[in-house]
Amino acid sequence: MGYPDYRPRRMRANETVRSFIRETSLSPDDFIYPLFVKEGKGCKDPIPSMPNVFQYSLDMLPAEIDELRVRGVNAVILFGLPDHKDEVGSGAYDDHGVVQNAIRVIKDHAPDFYVVTDVCLCEYTNHGHCGLVDDAGYVQNDPTLELLARTAVSHVNAGADMVAPSDMMDGHIAALRSALDANGSVNAPIMAYSVKYASAFYGPFRDAADSAPSFGDRRAYQMDPANIEEGLREAKLDIQEGADMIMVKPSMAYLDVLREVRNRFHFPTAAYNVSGEYAMVKAAAAQGWIDERRIVLENLLCMKRAGACVIITYHAKDAAQWLNE
Ligand code: PBG
Repeated sequence: MGYPDYRPRRMRANETVRSFIRETSLSPDDFIYPLFVKEGKGCKDPIPSMPNVFQYSLDMLPAEIDELRVRGVNAVILFGLPDHKDEVGSGAYDDHGVVQNAIRVIKDHAPDFYVVTDVCLCEYTNHGHCGLVDDAGYVQNDPTLELLARTAVSHVNAGADMVAPSDMMDGHIAALRSALDANGSVNAPIMAYSVKYASAFYGPFRDAADSAPSFGDRRAYQMDPANIEEGLREAKLDIQEGADMIMVKPSMAYLDVLREVRNRFHFPTAAYNVSGEYAMVKAAAAQGWIDERRIVLENLLCMKRAGACVIITYHAKDAAQWLNE
């Protein structure tokens, strides 16, 4: 550097020399695959806005886990579609709820397969909000914490390896940590959805998980896309409260946030490559307008470059397959 005729292209001449200076790499073990689980038998129901993503009944999970393992993907995050919803989201913390049962099915089949669970109430409440709602329609923070903590404990008791609260309530990590510790689950890590924005990119997920709010929106608990400093405060709180990993979500339009969080805290940070991001890529690929394989691998690589140590992505199976070829 500083030499007047420094020529960066010398180090781009061929693949070997390019690989010498490559700063980031992508591998199937970087991925966590989201799985939607439902009651019933023999279901592998397609989700229209998310091509090639399905809702699985529990009996269909072992085959799906085998397919992931063959491709080198060793972790899933579970989302539940309960048969029954109510005001207080009781299906979320039912020891025989759909996610709890799914964990047992997966662990019976493949004890070493890593199971993360999403901890939230929105898929279980009849109003679709992530917590308890008062008469004015406000999502109440502290009463919700207790239910989230019960949910996390029941997931871990069913065999979950890691819990991931996505509710954006204040104090949620401290609440989960102390409940898990009191349960004797001191070794169960928490992945905090720390910097989670109130994003239009979750649209297809809400179809998939049947979790759209029946009134209002989530802006009184999820973050304003205009803010980054607030996101740093959220990440700091979650780390202080005992998170083992933090997350930035969505990913593609938020890579600046991811990089800033990583630089600031030097803490394991996940990226969630969300449903709307997936749907956009799949739609353009279906039209033949983009090269799906190259676009997907570029997107995922750039999430790692921006600071992700692990990526939750619906592309996991395809990307792993491509990386193995
Ligand atoms: C539950 C939850 C959501 C997502 C993950 N956990 C939806 C939401 O907050 O509305 C979105 C995931 C995606 O879009 O892929 N709170």
